Amino acid sequence: MIKSPRDYRTGSQQKKFDTMKLSRRNAFKKISLGLAGVPLFGKSLNDIPAKEDLLKWQEAFSKDRTTDEAYWEKFRGEFYDIPSDFINLENGYFGVHPKPVHQSYLLNIEKVNRFSSQYMRTDYVHDYREIMKSLAAFSSVHPEELLITRNATEALNILIQGLDLQKGDEVILNRQDYHSMIETFEMLEKRIGIQLKFIRLPLVPKNDEEVLELYTEAVSPSTKCVLLTHMIHLTGQIIPVKKIADALRPRGIEIIVDAAHSFAQVDFKLGEMGADFVGVNLHKWFSNPLGAGMLYVKKGRVRDLKPLFGDSNRPKDNIHRLGHFGTLATPIIMTIPSAQEFNQMVTIPAKEKRLRYLQKYWTAEAMRIPKVVITTPTAEAQSCAIASFYIEGMEAKDIVHRLYEQFKVFTVIRQLEDRQVVRVTPNLYNHTGELDTLLEGISTLAKL
Ligand SMILES: Cc1ncc(COP(=O)(O)O)c(C=O)c1O
Repeated sequence: MIKSPRDYRTGSQQKKFDTMKLSRRNAFKKISLGLAGVPLFGKSLNDIPAKEDLLKWQEAFSKDRTTDEAYWEKFRGEFYDIPSDFINLENGYFGVHPKPVHQSYLLNIEKVNRFSSQYMRTDYVHDYREIMKSLAAFSSVHPEELLITRNATEALNILIQGLDLQKGDEVILNRQDYHSMIETFEMLEKRIGIQLKFIRLPLVPKNDEEVLELYTEAVSPSTKCVLLTHMIHLTGQIIPVKKIADALRPRGIEIIVDAAHSFAQVDFKLGEMGADFVGVNLHKWFSNPLGAGMLYVKKGRVRDLKPLFGDSNRPKDNIHRLGHFGTLATPIIMTIPSAQEFNQMVTIPAKEKRLRYLQKYWTAEAMRIPKVVITTPTAEAQSCAIASFYIEGMEAKDIVHRLYEQFKVFTVIRQLEDRQVVRVTPNLYNHTGELDTLLEGISTLAKL
């Protein structure tokens, strides 16, 4: 029975706790005793991998498993609780969190509710510091450069509305940037009179230099800021952020990076993007429960941002000056170490390779089907899990509807400038058999 807040420690702290307090085999199972029998979509919470098993999986990931379907099938059974009555290929919205993460989340909810302010005003302060330290190590940055937010939109609003933009200052955007960020800049256009300049990103750029040139040519003496979306949510296209940032920053231009989709999907380090300001999501590819994002501000640059939420007490260089949000859903934050552990077990390079493989598996076939147009670049470094397509002569809403009704494949429509496309996003639990069903659906519809 769980008696004190410390009995709920999860993630990296769990290891210490395990050796101190637990002697039986399955640490995760033991920790779940307080919730034993709680049904989770028809399954018991105890039905999750043991700590020792996680280490075995970690070892297994040291080999290249990219195309080993039997391996991934076992992985799915072990780590995910996925309904079998439809095929979810819409994992771009947010990530299904794996079983150990889910269990940690439930325990954290229970812990906060049971120990309430006694935990929040005492141990949580220490726990939060530990969470940030380890998240910073994972992201190759300093803990004082990170702030947990509720999502990427909040992180990016803190940046966009925080910059000291004046009437007449020019901001460069691209039509495929995320609409919420465009709308925030449009609000500032009306409110303070900044000028917005939109560039047109080619669907399939020849190379990085073509994209770089588009941004460098758009710059004028009034350009003060450029928003770069690392991975376009409509097509999955990856933009060469570092090359663009390296070219523009010496000209005194502020670079804001929207890495909502790329963080923990592709292998890069926050502190190595060449940008001082980055917003990411933790509830997409990092696999944390919904309601977590993160802000990165390079050391020394916090003082250059005006807080979006009033704060007059903290020092000008303290990143928490930008995060005066009020009371937060702390169980979500407390679950970050479990999500991080899962990512470290799989490793981001292995995840990136598998996700890219799944994408190429269906796009390479689909592009051979008459009337099917893939709207995602195929070059290795230009895309990963996400890809989109359309079928000439058929509306995207009909494709999405029929794929679901006839083939039980769930996808989503996205507005790609003046055209609607169907976005397909597999996650680690998807397998090539499901993509074969997608391909069967696409080829059937393309013949209509
Ligand atoms: C590129 C991009 N930026 C920002 C966001 C916003 O993420 P959230 O709604 O979690 O704040 C999304 C969401 O899909 C996105 O795709």
